[in-house]
Amino acid sequence: MSLGSHFLDELRSRITLSEVIGRRVKVTRAGREFKACCPFHHEKTPSFTINDDKQFYHCFGCGAHGDVIKFVMEHDNLGFMDAIEMLAAEAGMQVPKQTPQERAKAREDRDLYELMDDACQYFEECLLKPLHADALNYLLGRGISRQTIKDFRIGFAPDDPQAMRKMLLEKGYSDAEMIKAAVLRPAKDGGKDPYSFFRDRVIFPVPDRRGRIVAFGGRILPEHMRPPQRSDFTPPKYMNSTETPLFHKGRMLYGEPTARRAAAEGRALILVEGYMDVIACVQAGIAGALAPMGTAVTEEQIITMWKMIPDFNKVPILCFDGDNAGRKAAGRVCERILPLLEPGKSVRFAFMPDGEDPDSLIKSSGVRGFKEVVSAAVSLFDFLWSSYTQGRSFDTPDEKASIKKQLENEIARISHRDVQEMYRAALRDRISRVFYPPRQYGREQYSAGRKGRRGGYDVTLRPPKPVRKGKDSLFSKVVLAGLINHPFIFDSVEEVISGVTFKALRLEQLRQSVCIHLGEGEDVSRESLVLQLENEGYSQEIRDICNESVYVHASFCSPSANEENILSKWLEYWNDYSTAGLEEEIHDGWKRAYMEASEQEEEKLRTLMSVKAGEG
Ligand code: GTP
Ligand code: MN
Repeated sequence: MSLGSHFLDELRSRITLSEVIGRRVKVTRAGREFKACCPFHHEKTPSFTINDDKQFYHCFGCGAHGDVIKFVMEHDNLGFMDAIEMLAAEAGMQVPKQTPQERAKAREDRDLYELMDDACQYFEECLLKPLHADALNYLLGRGISRQTIKDFRIGFAPDDPQAMRKMLLEKGYSDAEMIKAAVLRPAKDGGKDPYSFFRDRVIFPVPDRRGRIVAFGGRILPEHMRPPQRSDFTPPKYMNSTETPLFHKGRMLYGEPTARRAAAEGRALILVEGYMDVIACVQAGIAGALAPMGTAVTEEQIITMWKMIPDFNKVPILCFDGDNAGRKAAGRVCERILPLLEPGKSVRFAFMPDGEDPDSLIKSSGVRGFKEVVSAAVSLFDFLWSSYTQGRSFDTPDEKASIKKQLENEIARISHRDVQEMYRAALRDRISRVFYPPRQYGREQYSAGRKGRRGGYDVTLRPPKPVRKGKDSLFSKVVLAGLINHPFIFDSVEEVISGVTFKALRLEQLRQSVCIHLGEGEDVSRESLVLQLENEGYSQEIRDICNESVYVHASFCSPSANEENILSKWLEYWNDYSTAGLEEEIHDGWKRAYMEASEQEEEKLRTLMSVKAGEG
């Protein structure tokens, strides 16, 4: 569409470039120009200059340049016409329309937006009427402040199916328009009048990226306030507006205007599940929260989030329930994202603790609790890895090959060449570390200082050999508890702990995960390690391991142990018990072999005994 250079010149002359940019990033005057840190690439010292006389910006760092329209398009992620509309509104100008059809469509849309705003205002007023005090009390009771109610324009739709219609008719809107905006339903067979779509529900208006209301979500009041009227029908908890010319579910994100501003300030975008989650987050100061409209997140919504983040590294965090259903949902989203990946564009997955959503988590554990969960979000790669390895054993070459193949198939779905290659490299690396861990050489090395045991033995000449631990072995639990509660010892014990294989599958998998996280991260804290492990589904194991019933056997592994001797105590324990652990297993094994008269068991035991015999 051409708007005529006249109009655009006029628009440019009415607005000051540095002001438009200054509303989005911090600018400072530098002589006749302005300077800023470039919003289009990552930098710490400003190389982005703005010249108001020439009406353009230029970045000496990345070469980005253009005029005010291009800036708004790129920065706010708006199309040309959206950017023009936005700038025109700021400058108090009307955008001319070309054809009569366009003019008609624009007028219609404008009327619809106005209608939606009037409806929104009506719902807001209803919420504050004494008649609907119970609805207001419900919201206040859930911890939503009056200010938040105002900010989100939360309202209430009365039970009367004609109330809003009457009000909007008086304002001059027609039934047809109200039906088009999806606030009214056409009359049912037999009924004579169209009636309200939302009745007796709390209303969450949905603003578009520019803050205009385009849809509503309505929540029923809880059962104790509204006892069910029919036994054969339960109304849905939430209802969303149906699609209208203004509202496309798959494109819209609840909370977008606030989140967009937060992203521009460099804050993280956090995708949560529902209205209440967004509201609770924003009220708690987590302004980057946003949610899809009651459906799984779509490609379009992911791309929108990427565009909202001005930084080069665009990695929104997607929150899911911590249960199986949540992990499955995350898996489906992962499928959808792989083909879209590009350098600098990815996502991370955060899993809520059992039975919590962000809203309830903020209530029970505060912002800090929620932020901890968010900061333990796993990368897309780690998520992929854990979804194919978790709960599976990979003792045989067949199992290893099968897992490798499945992961390769996933990675093959990444369409960007470089990203795909990086994922392949990461997979090779991960496979070699987890499937073929470095063998244990170092056990004796650490006992060198302990006289009289294995002193003088040339450890480097000893053949590597696996140390196997019994099922549920206390030994495995103690060494893991020590490591989980005091991750700082990892560097010193990496060699020994990487060289063993625990016999209990879950403990063995946990050992591997602990080694991966501590091996990859720097200065990993106990809290973030535990969160990551819980996210990977090890909550139960951690509860079993990190508790007093284990600590009583070895006080150094308790979180409250004195840091100074933890490392030496851990190594001492390792040296004292790694052999005993083996003995215990042989003892148990003979018993099992006897009870089950199993040749296989016997065979295993003979191997174990020969390992022990070779140990010296
Ligand atoms: P509260 O129960 O009020 O805390 O809301 P919630 O956001 O925790 O709800 P829930 O986790 O059950 O659902 C998450 C989101 O899914 C909601 O915000 C809605 O957008 C959507 N949703 C939930 N239930 C329904 C339903 O019955 N119908 C539709 N269309 N959407 C729903
Ligand atoms: Mn909830």
